[in-house]
Order: sequence, then C-alpha cells, then structure tokens
Amino acid sequence: AIPLIIDTDPGVDDAFAIALAARSPEVDLVGLTTVFGNVGLDLTTANALRLLAHLGRTDVPVVKGSGGPGGAADVHGEDGLGGQAHTLPENAEGVRSEDVVQFFADNIKPDTVVAAIGPLTNIAQALEAGVEFPRLIVMGGGLGLGNMTARAEFNFWADAKAARTVVRRGNPIIVPLNLTQRCIADTEFLANVDPVLSNLTGTYRAYLARHSEQNMSGREEGILIHDAVAVAEAIVPGTLHLRTHGLDIDDEGALVEGKHQVEVAEDCDWPALRAFMEQRLSV
Ligand code: BDR
Ligand code: CA
Repeated sequence: AIPLIIDTDPGVDDAFAIALAARSPEVDLVGLTTVFGNVGLDLTTANALRLLAHLGRTDVPVVKGSGGPGGAADVHGEDGLGGQAHTLPENAEGVRSEDVVQFFADNIKPDTVVAAIGPLTNIAQALEAGVEFPRLIVMGGGLGLGNMTARAEFNFWADAKAARTVVRRGNPIIVPLNLTQRCIADTEFLANVDPVLSNLTGTYRAYLARHSEQNMSGREEGILIHDAVAVAEAIVPGTLHLRTHGLDIDDEGALVEGKHQVEVAEDCDWPALRAFMEQRLSV
C-alpha cells in the first residue's frame, strides 16, 4: 500500500477526504497532521481524532501542527463539522505530543505521499527545515477564481506566505478550485454514503444556498468535496489529469502566472470518480 499522510483542518470536506483514505486499501494511512483553517487548531485536532474514532482507525496517529485564526465557521459550522462534531465519538487521548516537522522528517519515505488539504503552514515549515516531499498533493488555489476573494482560494489565502513557499519549493501537484468546483457531491450521493458523514453537511449546504455565486444554481444541489478530490489522486494515481503550468502566489494568496513549473489537476472523469467515492464511503 502507498504510505499516506494527510495534513488537514477538518472541515466537512476534509472529513470526506479522511474517510475516503481510511477506507481505501490502496493506501496505508501513516498519520494525520492538523493545522488551523476552517476553525482553530484545537477544534481541527479534536475533529481529526473524532473522525478516526468513528472510522474505527484509532491506530492512526494525530499530530497537532500550527495554530492560527479559524476562518470558515460560516461554511463548516462553529465546531468545524456542521455543528455535529458531538455525534462522533470523543477521542481526546489519541493525540501525539510530537513536533509536526519532526513527524514529517521521521515518517516520509521515498514512496510516501502527503496530501495537504488545509492552509500550508505545516508543509512550508517542513520545507524550510529541509524536509523533502517525494509526492505532495495540495488542494488549493484557483486559476482566475477564488472563494475567499474574487481571486484567492481559502487554503492559499489563509497563509499566503506558506502557499508561496510550497509553490516555489515544494514541487506540488495542485488541485485547484477550477476542478473541485465541478465535482459536486449531489443529494443522491449524500443519501448513499455513510449517514454519519452526510449528517455533517447541513451548515455547508445552507452556506451554498446563501451564496448563489458559489452555488450550483441551475445545476444539481449538493456540496463541494474539494479535499476528497485531491485525496483520490493519492489513492489512485492518474485519477486526475495533470498539466504543467508556470505559476506563483501573490501577496493576497492568489494563484497567478509565474516562473515556477508546477503540475495542476485540470480535469477528471467525475462520474467515475463519484462512483468510486460513493462505493468507498457507503457503509
Ligand atoms: C478548501 O477550503 C476549506 O474550507 C476546505 O476544507 C478546502 O480545503 C476549499 O477552498
Ligand atoms: Ca480543508
């Protein structure tokens, strides 16, 4: 199995991404490293622990990473999981008291994949400390579009400096909004997967309904599972269709044209990927 570390800020779509990895035999989930993002670090860490307990994977270590202001409670709920974190088992004992950069340094082997699905603070710190990531898949950015500002996507906006370090030095595969916004987990999908996961999506659906520019008006109703799309590429390489672009990050955290050559996921067979996720996430 492919060793996989997920750097995450759960987060409703993070929850779907973690569940997908935990229920896929192609990967060996080596650990979850947490970061602030959708909500603050204490909550994202508690949520990561609760999700693993729900998934029956308390064998997977959780390492608490970098803090900062939580910025997406309007989307993911005050607790980061749609007000439903309490429906998942508590697992406060499971956290490792280990430094996140040290965890990467100790656990990344030549075949390890790291999927970064929150702000890139931990990853940038590790790069600055000399850690090398053989395969780094990053959900973030948007080419000509954003969801925080007109041009900046949340994960890159939340720590623009870290995003810049990763784009310039991390040799990432970027899975941008341009692709993930086309991958809609519709109501039929949500009805067919683990009801405990679907139950986390209420706040997110209400948010999308309020923000018609991000809503799929005229298209299917549902949620966007950005992070699960990125993690799918870690589980089955080649799921996403990649193309090299010259890119950089500006001061606002917007992904812009530049001189750093990085791979960008431009397309996928969403009906096939949707079916794959539905099968893995159903109970
Ligand atoms: C990204 O921002 C977060 O709110 C989601 O969890 C995802 O990682 C999408 O822009
Ligand atoms: Ca996330």
